[in-house]
Amino acid sequence: MRVTIAEIKEMKQRGEKIPMLTAYDYVTAKMVDEAGMPLILVGDSLGMVMLGYESTIPVTMEEMLHHTKAVVRGAKKALIIGDMPFMTYHTSVSDALYNAARFIQEGGAQAVKLEGGESVAEVVRRLVGCGIPVMGHIGLTPQSVYQLGGYKVQGATPEVAKSLLQDAQILEQAGAFAIVLECTPAPLSKLITQKLTIPTIGIGAGLDCDGQVQVISDILGLYTDFVPKHAKQYARLAEGIKTAVSQYMAEVKSESFPTMKQSYAMDESLLESLDTTFSSPWRERGES
Ligand code: KIV
Repeated sequence: MRVTIAEIKEMKQRGEKIPMLTAYDYVTAKMVDEAGMPLILVGDSLGMVMLGYESTIPVTMEEMLHHTKAVVRGAKKALIIGDMPFMTYHTSVSDALYNAARFIQEGGAQAVKLEGGESVAEVVRRLVGCGIPVMGHIGLTPQSVYQLGGYKVQGATPEVAKSLLQDAQILEQAGAFAIVLECTPAPLSKLITQKLTIPTIGIGAGLDCDGQVQVISDILGLYTDFVPKHAKQYARLAEGIKTAVSQYMAEVKSESFPTMKQSYAMDESLLESLDTTFSSPWRERGES
């Protein structure tokens, strides 16, 4: 049985912190799920860390669905949230309903996430009304990077701080089950968290959010083009992978890989019947 929206809300009520992590493929989702992660986000950050785009803006519905399906196949317990890509929920409420439904019906996700506050409240209300759980996302909203003028902290001025608090409350009233706060000053995140009954999930938003989310490639040290200030590397997998790849390459060149252990044997008499002069490469090397 998968984690439910009700269980996530209960975690806030109990004061139990809510971990969330992104995943984009079957193998990783399986490991994250087996580790017991309650929430997995198939973030549109995959545009950068999986597909090599410069931002999340080029990411399409088809790409998101492709990765969402893989994550759903890998993770059997976690609640999986599909991230609605740029402009798939802005053109009209019916477009938003159609695209969100694809995440649930085709992708197999249990919820969707979308960026924005008051401007997307009507969409949130309609999606929730149709039975699609919605996670909000305010603060630094990467799909608005051109309007925001870069990836920077949001809510450091009284006007922006006030409007973020209002946005959070509007999203809660619209029926969002949780809200991501990205790159908001820690005291503002604490205030928003206290004012809401639904959980806040922070990324670069301080310790007082109800939960935390990170991009998996950042915490595993896999994506090294840029490491955000808010990310902590719990492993340095890029280094480990490069070492393993170099070793493999060297062993192929020096003919120390594969050995007999990684090869399939053949009956010697059958071999002789094919060619009496032929000598098995493994026998020549003293391996059997
Ligand atoms: O796309 C993503 O990974 C996200 C998280 C950073 C919250 O939106």
